Amino acid sequence: MAAASADGRIEPGLYVAGWLRRGGRGTIPDQRTDARALAATVAADLAGVGSPRPGLELSASEVGFDGWRRIDMREQLGAAPGRTRAKLRTHEDLLAAARDTAMALPDADRAQGASAADGGGQPVTVLFGTESGGAELVADDLRTYLAGRADVEVRDLAETEPDQLDPARLHLIVCSTYGDGEAPTAARPFLASISRARPDLSELRYAVFGMGDQSYARTYSRGSELVDEALAACGARRIGEYGRHDAGGPMDAVESAHDWVDGVLAETEALLAGPRAQA
Ligand SMILES: Cc1cc2nc3c(=O)[nH]c(=O)nc-3n(C[C@H](O)[C@H](O)[C@H](O)COP(=O)(O)O)c2cc1C
Repeated sequence: MAAASADGRIEPGLYVAGWLRRGGRGTIPDQRTDARALAATVAADLAGVGSPRPGLELSASEVGFDGWRRIDMREQLGAAPGRTRAKLRTHEDLLAAARDTAMALPDADRAQGASAADGGGQPVTVLFGTESGGAELVADDLRTYLAGRADVEVRDLAETEPDQLDPARLHLIVCSTYGDGEAPTAARPFLASISRARPDLSELRYAVFGMGDQSYARTYSRGSELVDEALAACGARRIGEYGRHDAGGPMDAVESAHDWVDGVLAETEALLAGPRAQA
C-alpha cells in the first residue's frame, strides 16, 4: 500500500487511520480521536464534491445508525452500579432495542460529539489530580471549553473530601500518574480518605480522563484508574469513554480532552433523555 500522508489521505477517495497511519501504538480512545480527525478530513474533502447520492434502503433484518444508537443507549441504561453497560447478548434483544422508537434519541450531530452537546443541562465538576500541572491546565481549559454549555466548577483532588462529591453534578476526573503507577502526591489523601470512609456514591456519575505516558507500559495512566476504582467501589457509575492521554504521543492533551468531553456530554444527554422519554 502507498504510504499515507500525515493527515490520512493516500489518494483521492482512499484514506487510512489508526495504527495503519500512525504505527502500532495507542489505545482505543487514541484511535477514536484519530478516526474523528480523519472523519473531519473526509467531510472537508466531500464538501467540494456536490450532493451525494442517497444510500441503500435498509432491509427488514438490518439496523440503521439510529438503531445502533438505541442499542447503545439501552445497554447503558441497563448497567449495574459501577459498570458502564449491560451487553445485550441475543440477536432478538438487539433488534428489539434497535426498533424501540419510544426511546428518544438526542439530535444526531450532538450524539456524535459535536460541540453543542451540553450533557442535558447537568452541572459539571472537573476534579483534577496533578503532579506537574498538566492535568490542572486541562481542567482549567475544560472550564472555558464548556462555558455556555454547562455550569462548571473546577476543583483540585488535593482539596476535596469525599463528602463534597455532589451527585447532582457530573464529575469529570482529570488525573495524571506518578512514581511507579501511583496517583499524584497531592491526590493520595483523597484516595486514602475515600477508601476509609466508603461513602454511598450510587447516585454519582463520573467520567475519567487519565494522563500518563505509554512508555510506562505497565502503569500507563494507572493513577486515574486508582481514582476510578475508588469511586466505583463506592457504587458511583462511570459513563462515557475512558479518555487517556499519552504525554509521549502526537496528540495534544487539551484537544484530546475536548474530544473526550464532547462524547461524555453527548452520552450524559442521551442517558438523561432516555428516562424522560420513557416516563
Ligand atoms: C517521575 C515520573 C513518573 C511517571 N510515572 C508514570 C507512570 O507510572 N505511568 C504513566 O502513565 N505516566 C507516568 N508519568 C507521566 C505523567 O503522568 C505524564 O507526563 C502526565 O501528563 C503528567 O501530568 P501532570 O503534569 O498533571 O502531573 C510519569 C512522569 C514522571 C515525571
